[in-house]
Amino acid sequence: MQKTWFRELSVYQIWPRSFCDGNGDGIGDLKGVLGKLDYIKSLGVDAIWFSPLYASPQKDYGYDISDYRAINPEYGTMEDFKAVLAGAHARGLKVVMDLVINHTSDQHEWFKKSAAGDPKYKDYYIWRPGKGKDGKRPPNNWQATFPGPAWQWNEERGEYYLHLFAVEQPDLNHDNPAVREEVKSIMRFWLDMGVDGFREDVITYISKREGLPNGFPVPVMCGQEHYSPGPNIHKYLLEYRQVLKDYDAFQLGEAPMMTPKNALKYIKEGEDQQLDMMFQFQHMSADCFVISYLPTGFSLRKLKKVFRRWQKKMYGVAWNTNYMENHDQPRVISRYGSEKMRTESGKAIATIYTFLSGTHFVYQGQEIGMLNYPFKDWSDIVDVASFCAKDLMEKTHLFSAKRIFRNCAYASRDNARTPVQWNAEENAGFTTGTPWFHVNPNYKEINVAAEESDPNSLLNYYRKIIALRKQYKEAAIYGKYKEYAKCNGKVYIYEKIGDDGTRLFVAANMSGKTVSAAPVKRVVPKGAKRLAGTYDGSLAGRMRPYEAHIFLVEK
Ligand code: NOJ
Repeated sequence: MQKTWFRELSVYQIWPRSFCDGNGDGIGDLKGVLGKLDYIKSLGVDAIWFSPLYASPQKDYGYDISDYRAINPEYGTMEDFKAVLAGAHARGLKVVMDLVINHTSDQHEWFKKSAAGDPKYKDYYIWRPGKGKDGKRPPNNWQATFPGPAWQWNEERGEYYLHLFAVEQPDLNHDNPAVREEVKSIMRFWLDMGVDGFREDVITYISKREGLPNGFPVPVMCGQEHYSPGPNIHKYLLEYRQVLKDYDAFQLGEAPMMTPKNALKYIKEGEDQQLDMMFQFQHMSADCFVISYLPTGFSLRKLKKVFRRWQKKMYGVAWNTNYMENHDQPRVISRYGSEKMRTESGKAIATIYTFLSGTHFVYQGQEIGMLNYPFKDWSDIVDVASFCAKDLMEKTHLFSAKRIFRNCAYASRDNARTPVQWNAEENAGFTTGTPWFHVNPNYKEINVAAEESDPNSLLNYYRKIIALRKQYKEAAIYGKYKEYAKCNGKVYIYEKIGDDGTRLFVAANMSGKTVSAAPVKRVVPKGAKRLAGTYDGSLAGRMRPYEAHIFLVEK
């Protein structure tokens, strides 16, 4: 496996609206980011991935882009962006942009012109006449991800357009070569400015089956077998890949419903490789039935199985990404850990995923152990996906209204989108104005300033293990994965073996109970050096709740 810079990165994800407000209008912005670059650098990470910063009506908080070459005025100007880029680069931090090309906003000039039938733009989107006598029935039975039909009638054009997400997010027609040229030109625009890579939003959806046939009639995401993936996906991705030949940059594709076997069709090293790595979602279902809106309680066995599969299948042939949170996922301590044992479970979670092979990601606030928000009722929630999940659950008649709210409050993307808690001052130091969204009331205890001053905080633990991941990179980043006690539902034990003979052992009690340390003792060689762990002190006969360790055996 080649050793390339982007494989070794720890990446910090910023969801700009809630990161830090620099101008007092209550909305996070680039000025705010600029002021926090030293903090980001202090974590030991090597890169920042920005969720969309582009001009957007914010119907899906930036994932609905109205101008790919402009910065959302709420976040600042292009000059502000260039200052952040320069400031990041000066500190040795790479910058990764979000590239959202499956769809645009319905406020994008292309869409407006397309709806008006402008000859240049008329085929930029996926338009179809209505069906039935009055021509008012949708062209097929596909359902959008944010549920409801995937088709919207447009009066001006007198046709339906396809939107796999919200009504305001019309899908681009990548079968049109002119659209593909636009995409390449957008990529070059940002690469020429100096950005170092792209995280490509739902990239596996961009090709749709010719004729757009009806989908198998299932209640959720009906039609997805015709676009996830579609017939030309590899061809189009290879075309986009060519752009990168002229730059030292990388591509990370977001890939819903991806399996290790199918992932290799995109990321296997070789001539046909289209992406450098992918975000898969399987490990995000360890506490639920398929989607987080149907919680089941955390299962370590489920999590281990997913990690094991990806680590083994990718070894030597392709590259993983390892993350536990992002802007679409509730806070991981509230899901896989314990809010009551926030620091301990946060450390255990951090430990088990940081030493897996792959590029490493930390989402804003994860490093200080931010928790889910205590939503009281629907008026607290703003995310479109949560309302869609509500509608869907209501239609099944399987759940009480109370249960529906509880499930949605647990799973809502809003949990990850509350302002970052910087200190114990008003609005958690996020803004001097009125925050655009609720600040979690726990900010007086959980904030960056408090964690900075505590040597045993989760924040300082993240710093420590991010550094260890790099220090022992032959084993941690590139090593071969070997797992022990696979069926144990409480303890996770694995070893990473580097080509240089270095061995790392990761062992964690992922439960809130005290358990026997025997399975770990059987595996970790006597004399192994303990590098870090949840609690001070070495492994005793019993492991305390969420007790985790990293051990080193040097060659
Ligand atoms: C995936 C993004 O992560 C999510 O936030 C967004 O809503 C959808 N794609 C649609 O762009």
